[in-house]
Amino acid sequence: MVFARKLAPQYDLLLVARRREPLEALASELRTAHGAVVAVLIADLTDAVQLCNVADRLAAERHLELLVNNAGFGNRGAFWETDLAVIEKMHRLHVMAVVRLTHTALRVLVAQNRGAVVNVASVAAFAHRARNAGYGATKSWLAALTEGVYLDLKRTGSAVRVQALCPGYTYSEFHDLLGEDRRRLAPASLWSTAEEVVDASLKALKKGTLFVVPGWRYRILVALFTKFPRWLRLRLEASGS
Ligand SMILES: NC(=O)c1ccc[n+]([C@@H]2O[C@H](COP(=O)([O-])OP(=O)(O)OC[C@H]3O[C@@H](n4cnc5c(N)ncnc54)[C@H](OP(=O)(O)O)[C@@H]3O)[C@@H](O)[C@H]2O)c1
Repeated sequence: MVFARKLAPQYDLLLVARRREPLEALASELRTAHGAVVAVLIADLTDAVQLCNVADRLAAERHLELLVNNAGFGNRGAFWETDLAVIEKMHRLHVMAVVRLTHTALRVLVAQNRGAVVNVASVAAFAHRARNAGYGATKSWLAALTEGVYLDLKRTGSAVRVQALCPGYTYSEFHDLLGEDRRRLAPASLWSTAEEVVDASLKALKKGTLFVVPGWRYRILVALFTKFPRWLRLRLEASGS
């Protein structure tokens, strides 16, 4: 929603999600505030047919500028104790939907040698944690895919940009859906607003930065964590530190 609000003054938008009511309300708010053309497409991106419809719509866009692969959800629990259907759904959303939509968008963007794709990953891409195996794995995959595509674009001299946006804890519905108490997860200083995250993303997009970790605290944490020897990272996480 925040990406849409920040982009609406400059761009026409196609909003995609499952719930019609909040999406229509947002579209109407943005049309009134900015006079933008805002289309709404109700789709569950984990459903192959609905995903195909979204991809077809994207492929037909004459002036595609930006794709934001933002849809995602979390879950908690030991891998084998988590409902397999939930794990598979997460992989369809974080992996297969991103494959399809990024591939479709890049065909358009590379041909016009302009535009960008933002893949919303997470700091979990760098810091795999217990009780979060599927989530961490899909977010690492997102970061790896984005890096690979970045290299392809650079090699071919394309002006198209890609970004792996890697936020830490962010105020949204994400943790409400998990039934988690934010105060128990992390101190307030480690929580960002969605505005801060989106501002960091859009600012970095102008410079073509590949990995964007919003917030200096998270940048330090990621820098430290990725320099720890693997045995130390594993020991710390396994002990619950
Ligand atoms: N919040 C955090 O702390 C945090 C931290 C790091 C990364 N992230 C990542 O940030 C991204 C956005 O999450 P958020 O924090 O903004 O959570 P959120 O408030 O729960 O938003 C998730 C969005 O994804 C849509 N969505 C979920 N499942 C979908 C599906 N099957 N098909 C189509 N749309 C679907 C939801 O709309 P509908 O329910 O209407 O479909 C909603 O618009 C996610 O990729 C998440 O992994 C979040």
